[in-house]
Amino acid sequence: QELKLNLEEIEKGGFDHFMLKEIYEQPRAILDTFRGRLLANDGTIKMAGIDQNLEKFLNANRIIIVACGTSWHAGLVAEYIFEDLARIPVEVEYASEFRYRNPVITDKDVLIAISQSGETADTLAAIKLAKEKGAFVFGVCNVVGSSIARETNAGAYTHAGPEIGVASTKAFTTQITVLTLLALKLAKEKGVFNTTRFHEFLTELENIPSKVEKALLSNPLVEIISEVYKDSANCLYLGRGYNFPVALEGALKLKEISYIHAEGYPAAEMKHGPIALIDEHMPVVVIATNKGHYEKVVSNIQEIKSRKGKIIAVVTEGDVQVKELADHVIEIPETLESLTPLLTTIPLQLLSYHIAVMRGCNVDQPRNLAKSVTVE
Ligand code: AGP
Repeated sequence: QELKLNLEEIEKGGFDHFMLKEIYEQPRAILDTFRGRLLANDGTIKMAGIDQNLEKFLNANRIIIVACGTSWHAGLVAEYIFEDLARIPVEVEYASEFRYRNPVITDKDVLIAISQSGETADTLAAIKLAKEKGAFVFGVCNVVGSSIARETNAGAYTHAGPEIGVASTKAFTTQITVLTLLALKLAKEKGVFNTTRFHEFLTELENIPSKVEKALLSNPLVEIISEVYKDSANCLYLGRGYNFPVALEGALKLKEISYIHAEGYPAAEMKHGPIALIDEHMPVVVIATNKGHYEKVVSNIQEIKSRKGKIIAVVTEGDVQVKELADHVIEIPETLESLTPLLTTIPLQLLSYHIAVMRGCNVDQPRNLAKSVTVE
C-alpha cells in the first residue's frame, strides 16, 4: 500500500491531483499534438490519416461529428472551425442519440468520432452504424490501439499522454488542436485559404502553447472562488460563437468535480428564459474575449449587472470595458478568434478545480463517474 501510494505521488509529479497536473501539461500536450504535423516554415500540415483519405473529405456532402461529454464539446468547437474556415457543412451529435434515432447517413458522409479513451460504448456503436450505412469514419482518440481507434477507417491521435483525472482537460484542448489542423488542411486544399492566411494561422497555432502557459498564470484569484462559489447552489456560464461550446465545457467541469449545478448557455439566449434566474446570489461566468461579437457580449453583461448578477468575466488581456462592469476579471492572451477556445477553457478548468478542492471533493475520482463509459 505504502509503495502504491509513493508510485502515485511520483506519477502526480508534485501536483496535488492528476487533474491539476494534466491542466498544467496542456502547453506540452498541444505542442506534442502538432509536432511533426504543423510545418509552418514549409507552410504545410502533414497528417497521414488525412493525406491518404483527402478525397473522402473534399468530396463529402457533410461531416457528422459524434462524441460524448467533453469530447462532444470539442466537436461543437470543431463545427465552428470547419464551417468558418473550410466551408464544409458539419453537424454534431451526441453519440447516444445518433445511434438510436435512425439517422440519414450516406456514403457521401464523413463521420468524425472523438473520444479520449477510445472505449466509449455509445461512440463505438455510432461508428458501427455509420460504417454499415457506407460513411467513411475518422477517429480522434488519445489511447493508441483503443477499440474506437481500431474500428475507424482512419484517424489522428491526440498526443496528450495518459489522462488519469476523470474530468477531461488536456484531452479537450488536444482534440481541438487535431481538429483545427484538419480544418486548416482542408481549407487550404479547397482553396478557401490563400497561402498568406494559411501561414498566419499556422504561425499563430505555433504560438498557442506559450499562450496557454500565460493563461495558466491567470490562475483565478482565490477571492473569486471563496466569495462567489463556496455556498452557491448553481451557476451560469455564457459564451458566444466559438466560446459557446467553451461555456458548456466550463459548466460541465464545475458540475462533475464540485457537484455545484452549472449550466452553459449561448449569451444571447439569456433573454429567452434563463435571465429569470439572475439575482445577487447567482454567479455568472461570461467569456468576453475581444473577438467575435464582443460588443454584444458587453451588453449581455450589462443586462446581468442590472439584475444584480455576480459577474466573473474571462477577457482578453488589456480589456477595459468589461473590467468596469464585471465583479471579477480573468485575463488571457489575445489570439485568432478560431483559436480562442484553446485559451478561454484554461481559467475555467482552474476555477472548477480550485472550487472542488475548496469543497473537499474527490477531484480525480468524482462520485458516480467513471473515466470511460464502456457501458450504455
Ligand atoms: C468529461 O470531463 C468527462 N470525463 C466525460 O464527459 C467524458 O468526456 C465522456 O465520457 C467521453 O469520454 P471519451 O472522450 O473517452 O469518449
